[in-house]
Amino acid sequence: MTTISPAWYPAINARRARRAYDKSKTIGTEVKNRLHEVCNEFRPYPDVRVEFVSEPPYDIFANALGFYGNIKGAPAFLAFVGDMSDPNVQEKMGYTGEAAVLEATAQGLGTCWVALTYNAKAVKSLVKLGQTEKLICVSPVGYTTGTWSFEEKAFSGFGIYHQRNPLSTMVSGLPESGWPDWAKAAVEAARLAPSAMNRQPWSFHVEKDRITVAIKNRGMEFNVAKRLDCGIAMLHIQLGALSCGAQGKWALLKSPQLARFQIE
Ligand SMILES: Cc1cc2nc3c(=O)[nH]c(=O)nc-3n(C[C@H](O)[C@H](O)[C@H](O)COP(=O)(O)O)c2cc1C
Repeated sequence: MTTISPAWYPAINARRARRAYDKSKTIGTEVKNRLHEVCNEFRPYPDVRVEFVSEPPYDIFANALGFYGNIKGAPAFLAFVGDMSDPNVQEKMGYTGEAAVLEATAQGLGTCWVALTYNAKAVKSLVKLGQTEKLICVSPVGYTTGTWSFEEKAFSGFGIYHQRNPLSTMVSGLPESGWPDWAKAAVEAARLAPSAMNRQPWSFHVEKDRITVAIKNRGMEFNVAKRLDCGIAMLHIQLGALSCGAQGKWALLKSPQLARFQIE
């Protein structure tokens, strides 16, 4: 199994949801192989998987304009697939999928988690699903058009959808002055996690040797599970902790709590 890559933590800061791609810039074989490797081998939870599809025969984002996000020119995509018979499928999907997103970012590629504005039928003709599996999300993958077009800026709310709430609104437990270094790095990294409509539906309870993630009930669902966003934040927590040399393990919990990261 491919373990966590040291390239993923710095990618947290570099990542932005990108929606305009330069189709003429092809993804090289080495980079493609690395993405396939991460998708095939980073499988901490066997009931979710990520498939990397390069050069699809048609554009899965064409004519899929919803109330937000219009993805243009992506030469490849990631499909995030989970077994819906597992009650923890959403957080497992977020955690696993974000690894592929951060690997793509580390390789200089643009991505954007997309739950709503794509052609699911087109994806399902290319990615075969098992009986209990569901296509949960996709992400375009490709080199972006160097500058941000007006349209792309508009779809990111002119930067508003990238802004995050202050840590003080999402962290409880030990006072900030008492946070160990690993916990500070972990919650700072979690705060930067992407979420549907940038709703940031999480809270983090910090203790001396553990962080518990819970879901915030306030805020819209938008037909996208908040547990998915929280799963993305889980990977960021682990990467932040690891950046300070702190190894730990996740335990999945019952709602409204979601998961606990315990330092070893
Ligand atoms: C689970 C999930 C679903 C998303 N769905 C869409 C979508 O359907 N269309 C879209 O344009 N952006 C979508 N986004 C992108 C978010 O709007 C974006 O990540 C968020 O505004 C934060 O901005 P940032 O990624 O630049 O930090 C989604 C993000 C997540 C995590």
